[in-house]
Amino acid sequence: MTQGPPRILIFDSGVGGVTVAREIWNLLPGSETIYVCDNGFFPYGVKPEDELIARVTSVLCSVAAGCEPDIVVVACNTASTVALPSLRERILVPVVGVVPAIKPAAALSKTRAIGLLGTPGTVRRAYTQDLIDRFASDYTIVRVGSADLVLMAEEKFAGRDLDPRRLAAALGPLFEPGGSPAVDVVVLACTHFPLLRADLAAIAPANIAWIDSGAAIARRIGELLGGERGRISPSKPLSKIFLATDLDAISPAQHGALRREGFSEIRAALS
Ligand code: DGL
Repeated sequence: MTQGPPRILIFDSGVGGVTVAREIWNLLPGSETIYVCDNGFFPYGVKPEDELIARVTSVLCSVAAGCEPDIVVVACNTASTVALPSLRERILVPVVGVVPAIKPAAALSKTRAIGLLGTPGTVRRAYTQDLIDRFASDYTIVRVGSADLVLMAEEKFAGRDLDPRRLAAALGPLFEPGGSPAVDVVVLACTHFPLLRADLAAIAPANIAWIDSGAAIARRIGELLGGERGRISPSKPLSKIFLATDLDAISPAQHGALRREGFSEIRAALS
């Protein structure tokens, strides 16, 4: 346990975890953030499960040993749906994962048809199927696994304009005309996708609810930090550090976007 403000280690393959970090900063201003971006192994969504588990465990264990966080957030559905048991065996502080928001989607859907938009890995995981079996077994689930949407989210974050036709192509059968029943709720089951929420809403039918797990994860972290919240001082400048496993691959545009996000240091992880 650190002595100053709570230190939160946030992990993703790219900048998707920033969507979770924003929710944490909203709820717990004054906590310290160390963000680890495993861009050296990006993208995760198309990698075999055993390789992912080994990689995520090795990177996170090394970084956690060096920075002694109070809590670790795996801000990546693709990693969380396979690597949490291995991480929890090895990391002694709480490890919180981000997994598809199937349960709240089922509570919200009136048509009982839910779109599941994730990486190719996440939409076919046993973990995801188990969530569907538990919370939405009698719903129609339209699964779309897209690696291109992840790339588009990275581009958007770095300030590039998106081609709506490319975006629409990535949505595949999600809103196919005549799809019966029609999808009325879409789970953004990849932390990159909230970066595209406005672009997605602009090309989708009106009145679709887009839901992600970010705010719920921030609340969970607040609960787990419990008594430690007294150590959060809103008047103190936040420390937000961004560590990349391949620092050379971070472009000047990404550097600028990360600075605007409030990261004061951008450094190599595992150096
Ligand atoms: N942001 C990640 C997720 O939530 C994965 C992106 C990738 O494919 O690397 O699933």
